[in-house]
Amino acid sequence: MTSDSNARKRRAAEAALAYVRAGTIVGVGTGSTVNFFIDALARGTVRVSGAVSSSNASTARLRAAGIEVLDLNEVGSLEVYVDGADEATRARHLIKGGGAALTREKIVAAASKQFVCIIDDAKLVTTLGRFPLPVEVIPMARRYVSSRLEALGGRPVWRQGVVTDNGNEILDVHGLSITDPVGLEREINQIVGVVTVGLFAARGADVLVIGTDKGVDTL
Ligand code: A5P
Repeated sequence: MTSDSNARKRRAAEAALAYVRAGTIVGVGTGSTVNFFIDALARGTVRVSGAVSSSNASTARLRAAGIEVLDLNEVGSLEVYVDGADEATRARHLIKGGGAALTREKIVAAASKQFVCIIDDAKLVTTLGRFPLPVEVIPMARRYVSSRLEALGGRPVWRQGVVTDNGNEILDVHGLSITDPVGLEREINQIVGVVTVGLFAARGADVLVIGTDKGVDTL
């Protein structure tokens, strides 16, 4: 990853602070772009009263920054969730899960009134699918789910050695050109043994903040 791409991620992450109200509990996603957002929160220009985290990695970084991490069950619902993505369209449909945190990310997104997605402009695409689509599966169902994903025209590859925070495995599905993200999300969700598909389309982002060389664009 180039330092330019880091600069674009940082711009998007810092711009997302504008959506966070002081004194509220913010939902925090996972990944290198979100790490810039956590660093921005840590500087304290917007003082949140706590965070709900989507991964063990983000929890550790939030705590190191002195931000209290709360259980979603205690909090109930959130005003804003800030998270990155691996690919995004202008319709704000997303592929997520490159960091294997997709299930908790989808849960926190679902529990939030507003989902602010932060990306650098290299991730903006016309059609989702160049980035292999992550699918979290129950380990004993991996082979069965793979066969079903092949029947849908994909080429699932087991992300060997990766165990999710929920104790499950990831299949990365190559070779898809996703022209109907909402339909494919529904279809993959129906496969027995699938925990979560990394398509965020039925509930995509509400705001897409795109870091560019010059600043940020917002969709
Ligand atoms: C984590 O599982 C993902 O959904 C991340 O949000 C996504 O991979 C973006 O990560 P980066 O910000 O590191 O590119």
